[in-house]
Amino acid sequence: MKALVYNAPYDVSIENVPDARIEQPNDALVQITTTNICGSDLHMYEGRTAVERGKILGHENMGIVEETGPGVTRVQPGDRVSVPFNIACGTCRNCLSGWTAFCLRVNPVEGMDGAAYGYANMGPYDGGQAELLRVPHADVNLLELPPGTEHESDFTMLSDIFPTGWHGTELAGQQAGDSVAVFGAGPVGLMAAHSAMLRGASRVFVVDKEADRLALAESIGATPVDFTQGDPVEQILEATGGRGADCGVEAVGYQAHDQSGQEHPELVLDNLVKAVRTTGGIGVVGVYVPEDPEAADEGARHGRVAFDYGTFFTKGQRMGTGQCPVLRYNRGLRDLVIAGRARPSFLVSHELGLDEAPDAYRHFDKRDEGWTKVLLHPGQ
Ligand SMILES: NC(=O)c1ccc[n+]([C@@H]2O[C@H](COP(=O)([O-])OP(=O)(O)OC[C@H]3O[C@@H](n4cnc5c(N)ncnc54)[C@H](O)[C@@H]3O)[C@@H](O)[C@H]2O)c1
Ligand SMILES: [Zn+2]
Ligand SMILES: [Zn+2]
Repeated sequence: MKALVYNAPYDVSIENVPDARIEQPNDALVQITTTNICGSDLHMYEGRTAVERGKILGHENMGIVEETGPGVTRVQPGDRVSVPFNIACGTCRNCLSGWTAFCLRVNPVEGMDGAAYGYANMGPYDGGQAELLRVPHADVNLLELPPGTEHESDFTMLSDIFPTGWHGTELAGQQAGDSVAVFGAGPVGLMAAHSAMLRGASRVFVVDKEADRLALAESIGATPVDFTQGDPVEQILEATGGRGADCGVEAVGYQAHDQSGQEHPELVLDNLVKAVRTTGGIGVVGVYVPEDPEAADEGARHGRVAFDYGTFFTKGQRMGTGQCPVLRYNRGLRDLVIAGRARPSFLVSHELGLDEAPDAYRHFDKRDEGWTKVLLHPGQ
């Protein structure tokens, strides 16, 4: 089959690799109809992870079940399914309490809970930027979708970024009527803004420097905050009568940078502590890592990100963190799409064949204008 593989920093290519196949009785084989490029893939693309050469990337997958192992009873060949980026066993302590992003059984690496497709440190699982994908524990993991092709570009957001954006607002403790400050207008930030609206926010601020992304935020009714036009904290404080937003979402991650492009891993956390009111919640879904050899300062090389904890404590704020447990939300979000109340496809900028993926990585990585979210269709 054809698949996108990681070769070296800034170097991915389409290769012919052995077909994915059923390996365990609980596996399903999914023929991929749509798979997306994610901001998380860029951490690997830029050489900022320990991902191994030859890894097939791709954790935002959906498609049609082609074959099932003998232990699979719920899912059937022919079913149209969304594949959560987390791989979960469904029976361990964390899975049973809804924290499938921290499944205790699926990642063989000592000390690492949780696994994902095509991702650094997340287990030996191939990604889905390919024609076929092996899905372990298929009855647990696969979400059924209505047959046909309707809502394909909405449903493709169910594997990661729509639940992740929603999770950011959940970790922030958002209540109806709250004002919400979202940092990052990438795909995840835009999904957090969409989620905040669906949850009844009175006002949503979205901070970034990319004009095209800020325009998308504005198109769904959010207030764009361009951090090249002045301190984003001051802009939010001014707009909230000096109190700050009721809660905030971090959708940037450890490669947060200033307007010159210089990285400061603590920058967005500091901004959120200042821009969110006393006792407000902060949901951090942007990724931070325990080891980052390329980080600008010695502490951050070992995951020690020195944000303003003193002010955070003094303001009595709360913070929630981590990978999104997609299974907790994807069924409800699917039904919001079917009901016509959610339209996460609003951010899609490109739909391409798999062969065009290396070029798409290049553009998306540079945040070239108009490259907001790339959908790949391996079958085409
Ligand atoms: N927790 C999860 O489950 C989960 C899932 C998916 C993605 N992620 C992570 O979410 C983050 C965002 O992903 P994405 O797909 O939206 O990627 P992205 O990299 O395209 O978006 C990040 C955006 O942040 C902006 N930004 C950079 N510095 C900033 C600053 N100082 N203030 C405000 N905005 C700033 C960039 O201009 C960019 O538009 C990444 O770290 C990704 O790994 C986490
Ligand atoms: Zn993703
Ligand atoms: Zn588990």
